[in-house]
This record gives sequence, structure tokens and C-alpha cells, in this order.
Amino acid sequence: MTATTDISGHYTSGDLLTRLEARLCEDGFDPARPTFEALAPYDHFHGRGLEATEDIANRLPISGTDHVLDVGSGLGGPARYMARRFGCRVSGVDLTAEFCDVARHLTALLGLEERISFEQCDALSMPYRDAAFDGAYSMNVTMNIADKRALYREIHRVLKPGAWLGLSEVVQGPGGEPDYPTPWARTASASFLATADETRANLAGSGFAIESLRDTTQASFAWAARARAVVEAGGKPPHRAVSLIHGALAEEIMANTGRALRERCTVPVEVVCRKVRQ
Ligand SMILES: C[S@@+](CC[C@H](N)C(=O)[O-])C[C@H]1O[C@@H](n2cnc3c(N)ncnc32)[C@H](O)[C@@H]1O
Repeated sequence: MTATTDISGHYTSGDLLTRLEARLCEDGFDPARPTFEALAPYDHFHGRGLEATEDIANRLPISGTDHVLDVGSGLGGPARYMARRFGCRVSGVDLTAEFCDVARHLTALLGLEERISFEQCDALSMPYRDAAFDGAYSMNVTMNIADKRALYREIHRVLKPGAWLGLSEVVQGPGGEPDYPTPWARTASASFLATADETRANLAGSGFAIESLRDTTQASFAWAARARAVVEAGGKPPHRAVSLIHGALAEEIMANTGRALRERCTVPVEVVCRKVRQ
């Protein structure tokens, strides 16, 4: 098995759409006519869910005329959020074929297929011409990619000069290796965490100037406390992507995620940078 099949295998169940539709029914929504709000607990597959997507969007200079790249687009929640909020076009790429299929289906149901497309491919080799995009973002993807300079150079290639790049990442903290499984890997062999300093060096070495790098750990703790309060009051957890995608493993994954954050094994960060040279 190659590293990439190992990674897409981690995310693939074969019946994701059926399970998502069942969840929407349980939540009281018609799966044939989902709303953005109905999908939000499931289709923003990263720490803090929709809140983190809103945060990175608030920091990026996206305009309605932009063509934006989403690297590792998952089920497409962030792409639909950007297209709906800013009126921009979004092209998403993702290694996991099932995610691309579900992302296209949901995007069509929401009437956004004219502005959003999804390609199944490895982000290290994207099917786009040089300087095709006005900006790019990527949320919780680089943990699956060993050669980060190759990734950043490929993103750099497809961006216009001066274009922006926003990253919402999990980096290696001082607390040592996290326990596995995590949301992105069953075992350490599919996980490639860089430190914040390595991330800065990799981006700078790939032709990006960093405008900001923000540790969002406190925001994660505050978000988790609010989520706990909702559950204690009898509500559903606001973020249900991990349980949708990872099923029986979800409880262990969530416990490992919380411990890794508390013990500073993993640190969520938000990075905004610009393409500065060829
Ligand atoms: C934790 S999910 C995040 C999905 C999405 N960015 C979101 O936030 O909702 C990580 C995603 O990265 C994708 N991925 C991992 N390695 C990749 C690669 N080399 N090229 C493209 N996508 C990749 C996975 O298939 C998965 O969809």
C-alpha cells in the first residue's frame, strides 16, 4: 500500500453519503434539500468546525471576483462557505475520491455547482496551469503530507504573484507525539507534523512571506467548553464530522485530540502569507 492510499483509506468508508443522509434525517432535515446550517456540523472537518472556517475567512482578503483554491477540500463545507459569503469561485482538490463525490453532490444540492468544482488528485501535483489562482487556503491537511516544501511549492506555482495563502493547521507542539488514532491518521506512520518554526521555514523556503501565525489553542479550549455545555444541557455536540467520518473510532479519536491539545503535543495555528517570489 502506498502512503497516499493509506491516507485516503483512512478517510474512506464507501457509504459516507448514506450515513450523512441518515444523520440529516435524525437531525430533522430533508437530505434531498439540506441547508448550509444543516450541513455545518458535518462538512467542516477540522478543529472548531465552522467557527475555524469563519476565522480564517475573516483574515483573508477574498473578493467576489477571485478564483480561490481549496487544498484538501474534504466534504466541501469550507469551499461552499467561501463561495456563499464572498461570491468567489472555488476549486477544491482532495486525495479522497469519496469526499470529492460527496462534496460535488452537496454542492449541486445547494445550487453552487457553477462556482465550485472538486478534483480528485494529490495536492503535490495539481491539474492547474501556473498562476491560475488569486488565493488559496487549506484547512487541517498538511498533517497528512510528509514533503511540505513540495506541497507549498506546488501551491506557489498555481498562485498569481502577490496572491494570498491561508492555512489552518495542526503543528507539532513541545509535548511529544500525540496518541493515535487522530482525526487525520490511524497510526503515526500516516502523520507528518511539523513544528511552528519548521512551518515558517518551509513557507519562507517555498517563496511565501508570512504575514501572521497565530496559535489558536485558547480558542479551541473555549470552543470545547461551549460544546460540552451544549451536550450537558441535552443538545447534540455542535461538531459531528469526526463521528460521521470515523464511526466507531470517533470516541477514541476525540479523547486523543483533547489530550494532545491539553498536553501541547499538538498546537492548532492559523497562518496568513503571500506569494513573494517565483
Ligand atoms: C482533516 S480533513 C480536512 C478536510 C477539509 N479541509 C475541511 O477542513 O473540511 C484532511 C483532508 O486532506 C485530504 N488530503 C490528505 N492528503 C492529501 C493530499 N496529498 N492531497 C490532497 N488532499 C489530501 C484528505 O483526503 C482529507 O480530505
